[in-house]
Amino acid sequence: MTSIVQDRWRRALAACLLTMSASTAIAQSPDGSFSNPTRFMPRDGEVIYRTSCQACHMSAGEGASGAGVYPALAKNSKLQARRYPVYIVVNGSKAMPPFRNLLDDEQVPAVVNYMRTHFGNGYRDTVSASDVKSARP
Ligand code: HEC
Repeated sequence: MTSIVQDRWRRALAACLLTMSASTAIAQSPDGSFSNPTRFMPRDGEVIYRTSCQACHMSAGEGASGAGVYPALAKNSKLQARRYPVYIVVNGSKAMPPFRNLLDDEQVPAVVNYMRTHFGNGYRDTVSASDVKSARP
């Protein structure tokens, strides 16, 4: 029997493992240099979505429900107010983990801007690093 808690942990673990495998690939980069910051972690919004968000919100942002409820990000009118998704990504909410220590002030806008312009969302005003700074506790 899968409890809600087990399901949440399974998804959180999947997201962590994906993030960790991305860092391992970097640590093993052939020249061993960290001079290019793009090698540290994905900087691209879509890649961040695939590695950090998709495990819970699904590949087309359709969300999921079953043992837990993972809201759809697709065609989501709550994403219109740009500070709202920034706040949720930085601070988490209920079963959604906070990403403030995992994603920096450029990565949060990258994934939020990606989500707000994909999955049937057409919000063209962009989120910036200063929005992230003001959402941090
Ligand atoms: C471990 C599962 C999990 C992961 C990973 C996750 N989320 Fe969530 N997310 C949730 C849950 C559960 C909620 C609903 C929280 C609540 O009910 O308050 C949520 C809510 C949200 C919301 C608010 C949606 C609404 O309609 O109010 C946004 C935006 C969001 N997540 C974006 C993201 C982004 C972007 C990422 C990746 C950086 C991400 N989530 C990663 C589980 C997750």
